[in-house]
Amino acid sequence: NKVVLAYSGGLDTSVIVPWLRENYSCEVVCFTADVGQGEGELVGLEQKAKASGACQLVVKDLQEEFVRDFIFPCLRAGAIYERKYLLGTSMARPVIAKAMVDVAKEVGADAVAHGCTGKGNDQVRFELTFFALNPELNVVAPWREWDITGREDAIEYAKKHNVPVPVTKKSIYSRDRNLWHLSHEGDILEDPANEPKEDMYMMSTSPEAAPEKPEYVEIGIVSGLPVSVNGEKLSPASLLSKLNKIGGKHGIGRIDMVENRLVGMKSRGVYETPGGTILFTAARELESLTLDRETMQIKDSLALRYAELVYAGRWFDPLRESMDAFMTKITETTTGSVRLKLYKGSVSVASRTSPNSLYREDISSFESGQIYDQADAAGFIRLYGLPMRVRAMLGKGI
Ligand code: ARG
Ligand code: SIN
Repeated sequence: NKVVLAYSGGLDTSVIVPWLRENYSCEVVCFTADVGQGEGELVGLEQKAKASGACQLVVKDLQEEFVRDFIFPCLRAGAIYERKYLLGTSMARPVIAKAMVDVAKEVGADAVAHGCTGKGNDQVRFELTFFALNPELNVVAPWREWDITGREDAIEYAKKHNVPVPVTKKSIYSRDRNLWHLSHEGDILEDPANEPKEDMYMMSTSPEAAPEKPEYVEIGIVSGLPVSVNGEKLSPASLLSKLNKIGGKHGIGRIDMVENRLVGMKSRGVYETPGGTILFTAARELESLTLDRETMQIKDSLALRYAELVYAGRWFDPLRESMDAFMTKITETTTGSVRLKLYKGSVSVASRTSPNSLYREDISSFESGQIYDQADAAGFIRLYGLPMRVRAMLGKGI
């Protein structure tokens, strides 16, 4: 039998390879998804995997699929978890796990394995995706089974099994990077009272060190999805990379929060989401022209639930898919362009335009107008306020 392992080439996954062979006497196919974790992560990986004892390494470039089919729907929905988190890791797990299910089929594997700890959200996201897409696959989560507890333990295990210990120097933080974001957890961040050190950040310069001159950027949006930057049409992944560079340069999108994990504990994380922050600002701004009051309220309330589902690993749940159908319909007319001003960590709106704008200057202007008759307001207010008058009359015995 054969198992497909979600593999990064770091110490943990390198140790999992011999561990799986020893404990499950199976062949190990390593799988690495390219979701934009960055240059360098993929070089020499095949050799490394084989040195650990894998029979094969499969690499798939999922960047466009990740942005188009996972990130953009969350953006269109306006999905934000617990007021702050733009779901970078949460969206990446289902696209990786989906590819693992495909690879398992291609190589004839009957099991899949991942290196997530038993304390986090990621294990849930991987496994719910496996369940949804192929309930027959066996799932192995070594962290929940083995007695390797720390880094020293892992190195010893590697040495005992003649597995070269990865030379990549281990960062003190637990990080997860992809095209949308970079997350930092652990070490000094574990005390919520500690301010992050400046040298921790990797995708953004500090607002203090950002350029003294503001930069304008124009985002073109069609039906709730971004299509262009400064008039240039770009594929989803290249559009996002471009905005990451621009936003990172101006210190945009740093988020520091304490969040509630699905497994019940609180955890402190710091996120860098430069391009994503620009896109969220643009999409939301355009909706102020294209959605009416009640529509926006319903959309916002569903966005909260949508984010919960994504955070909890329920991407392939019909509930999320149905909400997505709603989001697609409701944003059909959200087309237009938003010009933003980036300056030392802030994104402000300079202009918004849409061919489907519900805003009418001839109605809203202080300079009179034909369609709106001010005399109509008197009757409207009398009826709108009727319940208030009735209650007050009761109180006064009228
Ligand atoms: N707390 C975030 C989330 O649950 C980030 C998790 C980062 N994962 C990691 N393996 N470092 O989405
Ligand atoms: C992990 O525990 O594997 C990373 C953190 C998380 O999944 O929330």
